[in-house]
Amino acid sequence: MKTIIAPSFLSADARYWADEIRLVEQEGIRCLHLDVMDGHFVPNITFGPGPIKMLRSVSAMEFDAHLMVLEPSSIIPAFVDAGVDAVTVHAEACRHLHRTLQQIKDYGKKAGIALNPATPVSFIEPILDMADRILVMSVNPGYGGQKAIMSMTRKIAQLHQLRQKHNYAYEIQADGGINQTNVRAFLEAGAENLVIGSALYQPGKTAENIRALARIIEDFEKNG
Ligand code: DX5
Ligand code: ZN
Repeated sequence: MKTIIAPSFLSADARYWADEIRLVEQEGIRCLHLDVMDGHFVPNITFGPGPIKMLRSVSAMEFDAHLMVLEPSSIIPAFVDAGVDAVTVHAEACRHLHRTLQQIKDYGKKAGIALNPATPVSFIEPILDMADRILVMSVNPGYGGQKAIMSMTRKIAQLHQLRQKHNYAYEIQADGGINQTNVRAFLEAGAENLVIGSALYQPGKTAENIRALARIIEDFEKNG
């Protein structure tokens, strides 16, 4: 599976959102990570389905909604209506996680499960066969620009082994604090979708950052 860079839109300049999408798309990006925060599950508040629906017409790339929302079931239809392609919910935020995942799948969208740093893989083991994506948080959710918790690469490696052993179909996504210095450790652990915010979106340097990250990934894929 080709490794994907998924820019975290939280780090984009909100004054130029449409341009910030076009810019990364021109650099070959095909997945845009949309960090939705409700101020309850996480202390921060970002954006909801409204702005996403307006931005949908800017690009056909995958809109990957990361819902840091308590009990997200009631808001999922609005994100589907806004045109997202994937919805990832937090295992810690859903009283009925199986039902919520089924709800996303019934809409024909990619269904993802996110795990906070302290949540073990065993917590979702019974439904790994349902997931299209497992998002391993390498920071505590709520803010961009944090330092990566590198021990989360062990959780990524564990998911990689489980997938091989049981032939699961999920993609492994890593999210939080990833940069040019530590990205290789995430690749070596088995992550194939890398969410990158503050190390990617930087005024006047975004394209250069994407190219530098892509070179590191390319080198890893070629030479291990
Ligand atoms: C944090 C979000 C992450 C974050 C990534 O709650 O889920 O997607 O924005 O940004 P960086 O790469 O700056 O940690
Ligand atoms: Zn995220």
